[in-house]
Amino acid sequence: MDAKDWDERYAAHDLVWSAEPNRFVAEIIGPLTPGHAVDLAAGEGRNAIWMVEQGWTVVASDYSLVAVERMRTLAADRLGDDASRLTPVVADATQPAPGAPAAYDLALLCYLQLPADEWRQALRAGVEAVRPGGRVVVIGHAGRNLAEGWGGPSERAVLYDPDEVLDRADGLPVTALQSGIRERPVETVDGTKIALDTVVVLRREG
Ligand SMILES: C[S@@+](CC[C@H](N)C(=O)[O-])C[C@H]1O[C@@H](n2cnc3c(N)ncnc32)[C@H](O)[C@@H]1O
Repeated sequence: MDAKDWDERYAAHDLVWSAEPNRFVAEIIGPLTPGHAVDLAAGEGRNAIWMVEQGWTVVASDYSLVAVERMRTLAADRLGDDASRLTPVVADATQPAPGAPAAYDLALLCYLQLPADEWRQALRAGVEAVRPGGRVVVIGHAGRNLAEGWGGPSERAVLYDPDEVLDRADGLPVTALQSGIRERPVETVDGTKIALDTVVVLRREG
């Protein structure tokens, strides 16, 4: 899918994703001291808006103009004056992140499903965006989800298991703090299904 396809997908629905943050975003970022964060491929901003509610100042980018405009509207409705701590930006996640290098305490890549080379560029952008000691949080549909889990993209090339994330981080100045596959229950008309997500947390080194 390209930006135009995503625009069409967003335009076809009031809200494509949930209003609540992803459960692993809440679990990992919730206990951290709020600072400055960049959310790459932020979609409608469910995670970025929640982070602002937790006290973070967030730059949230996506290459879909429709998603970014929706994020802006949702943020104004939900955050009131605090919406000033969210900066929605139209930008390609495979390019250097908005803002100065090493400007952020945290970068988030959540369900950005791209072929390996493009995804590696986005990971590099995330790593270069955070200061030494900062975190890069990666959440995505796992490769294993295809055979063993529910939902998500059906194209293996855009899925990634934890070892693939770590392979793609090779050569970048990071240490893995957490890496694994996590189960995410999803309520469907046929009952609860289990999706398998890759969850990796990296710390930027000097
Ligand atoms: C599955 S959605 C996830 C959105 C959000 N991170 C979340 O968890 O709700 C994937 C998003 O990635 C965006 N995206 C895909 N490729 C991108 C790229 N190269 N640059 C910026 N955004 C991209 C899409 O527009 C879409 O909003």
